[in-house]
Amino acid sequence: MSRILVTGGCGFIGSHICITLLEQNHELIVFDNFSNSSPLAIERVLNIAKVSNVNTKNKIELIKGDIRNLLNIEDVFRKYFEQNKPIDSVLHFAGVKSVKDSVLNPIEYWGINVIGTHNLLTVMDKYKCRTLVFSSSATIYGDSQKIPISENADIKPVNPYGNTKAAVEKILFDIADCKTDLQEIQKSSRSGWRIARLRYFNPVGAHHTGLIGESPNGTPNNLFPMITNVATGKRDCLEIFGNDWPTPDGTCIRDYIHVMDLASGHIAALNFLLNSSPQILTLNLGTGRGTSVMQALRTFEKVSKQKINFEILNRRSGDIAITVADVSMAEKYLNWNAKIDLKDMCASSFNWQKTNPNGYDNT
Ligand code: NAD
Ligand code: UFG
Repeated sequence: MSRILVTGGCGFIGSHICITLLEQNHELIVFDNFSNSSPLAIERVLNIAKVSNVNTKNKIELIKGDIRNLLNIEDVFRKYFEQNKPIDSVLHFAGVKSVKDSVLNPIEYWGINVIGTHNLLTVMDKYKCRTLVFSSSATIYGDSQKIPISENADIKPVNPYGNTKAAVEKILFDIADCKTDLQEIQKSSRSGWRIARLRYFNPVGAHHTGLIGESPNGTPNNLFPMITNVATGKRDCLEIFGNDWPTPDGTCIRDYIHVMDLASGHIAALNFLLNSSPQILTLNLGTGRGTSVMQALRTFEKVSKQKINFEILNRRSGDIAITVADVSMAEKYLNWNAKIDLKDMCASSFNWQKTNPNGYDNT
């Protein structure tokens, strides 16, 4: 059992991982400012855990706070330290993630993703909590020439969001103070930190109960929320951004990964860190399988038995033809691979949207 701080734990990915962490008997402190989520997510997490007979008594505390405010973070570490229950490790999901908004508000993106993370690291170091799993993103590879993309590919982000993730990766590398004795994806840390930089590909899907799922504030930008909105009648049609890409059907290819597979990947990474010498580990989390926009749409239609109307628009600025993960290193180091197929990704997304048409907002 570890005592784990989960920043951004009410969000899409964080909330799903909280369930898996509770199942593993960890004690959680969830820290979130609810800027893109609802505290109800944690109530639902507790409901799911109870139904599965997971002991949740005193296992989760939800704290409202902002990672941009160092004192907010320090209050949490101090409180647990003074109770003689120091925080052992951190899973850091708090952040902002829209490519489009990052172009419009780069100052906000650097403030939350980079300065916020720096605050967190400052306090962690002060309280000698030096185990961290960080949510990085495949976006840092930019338009990679070689598919599948391995962890050793060049880092060349093409938007402010990607720049912030790449910047944090560098900060983490420096903090780990690495020797150069090991291969690129695993380097020993002289400063005693245990860090996993996990580069997610395209997380989708929802918990099979339909109790938690992706509930962004405002208009979604991503493909799956858009498809589910059309399927449930919230939107008339899906806009497909280009069918003239250099792919078999002309639409872009992505590596969609179910959020519960992502959750098991985090557990594997955390266990690996806790059972290894200090180091920094850098891994892709994806399925290794590519799916085009059109294939995703057709699979969704089959699974949901709903017709998805669509229209073809011009390419979206900043899009890339193909991103697919090379997942061999995650398999090798974590003995982990993604198990949930595209049909289940579609079915669980549809189930969540159908039963929660307004996300957590039932008003
Ligand atoms: P999300 O928006 O659902 O969750 C992020 C959470 O962080 C939210 O609960 C939000 O309220 C909280 N938050 C935002 N700013 C905060 C702040 N200043 N202080 C405290 N809490 C704050 O997003 P998600 O999809 O769950 O993503 C989690 C992490 O994974 C993010 O860092 C994101 O960049 C990264 N990531 C996501 C994707 C994706 O496609 N979903 C892909 C790659 C990487
Ligand atoms: N797409 C459409 N119509 C839509 C939405 C998306 O055709 O309404 C297409 C896009 O053009 C793209 C594909 O669907 O070809 C996937 O688009 P998403 O917006 O769902 O995902 P991206 O691959 O653009 O980016 C996502 C996250 C990023 C993250 C990246 C890699 O939004 O934050 O995956 O992890 F960095």
